[in-house]
Amino acid sequence: MPLKVLILGGSSEASVLANAITGDRRFDALLSLAGRTQMPMASPLPRRSGGFGGAQGLADYLTTERIDALVVAIHPFAAQMRRHAVAAARLRPTPLLIVDRPAWRALPDDRWTGVPDMKAAARALGETPRRVLLTVGRQDLAPFAAHGQHTYLVRSIDPPADAPAGAELILNRGPFTEPDERRLMETRGVEVLVTKNAGGDATAAKLAAARALGLDVVMVDRPPLPDLDGLDVQVVPDADQALDWLSHQAPSATERGV
Ligand SMILES: NC(=O)c1ccc[n+]([C@@H]2O[C@H](COP(=O)([O-])OP(=O)(O)OC[C@H]3O[C@@H](n4cnc5c(N)ncnc54)[C@H](OP(=O)(O)O)[C@@H]3O)[C@@H](O)[C@H]2O)c1
Repeated sequence: MPLKVLILGGSSEASVLANAITGDRRFDALLSLAGRTQMPMASPLPRRSGGFGGAQGLADYLTTERIDALVVAIHPFAAQMRRHAVAAARLRPTPLLIVDRPAWRALPDDRWTGVPDMKAAARALGETPRRVLLTVGRQDLAPFAAHGQHTYLVRSIDPPADAPAGAELILNRGPFTEPDERRLMETRGVEVLVTKNAGGDATAAKLAAARALGLDVVMVDRPPLPDLDGLDVQVVPDADQALDWLSHQAPSATERGV
């Protein structure tokens, strides 16, 4: 029998992993998405969308679908889903893999201010009016509304519901190149960039562009991983190592009677 795998996706690593195991008879995998974006990235794996109803709902799903391995390859800021996945793997003991891509690190010429959350990011912009490029996703814009002295340029994949009054919107999905990011910042007169420390290559060009232009960056730190004590769990940085882990979990061809 193939290994039944549930991949909690929504990240580029999940897409790469989904492509890598498609057609591999060792796996019977399903990709689960939060359902946040109107046009999610195409996936060759069967897909489901929307929440499970908390940790217990996910534990029940693991049981009824007889899932052998749970891969948490969600965005590093999707902290609630990570907590629920870890709690579900305790409720219904299931081998668990967390794909946690490395955070970005400041280089010597970077002008970053690290902040713990979005409210602190909005405060870190200061009192003096500035032209701000917000690339924090469309769900986390509310704290900036209270700091209306600034002029905001908001970039997101889908239209945000709660952009600050008067904000200009750019609807776009990465990856972006450094020359494009520089052009955007220069032509729009951006003075400061606000971003989550998502890590990865797909959206890192904005950091290189800000560095080259000497712009300030307000960097929202990641939420920590949940407590993993006592679990059958591994944390890996990328899809290649996730595939290695899955290969170790999968029964061999002989065991499968192939
Ligand atoms: N989720 C993404 O794909 C994604 C992508 C880019 C950025 N982010 C960032 O992460 C932060 C939180 O986003 P979020 O609300 O999506 O995550 P979240 O706060 O961690 O999750 C909220 C709920 O959404 C459901 N959910 C999340 N991911 C799911 C998945 N892969 N499959 C099925 N259900 C899922 C779960 O509902 P139940 O409790 O009912 O199971 C979860 O409790 C935001 O800052 C957002 O910008 C998320």
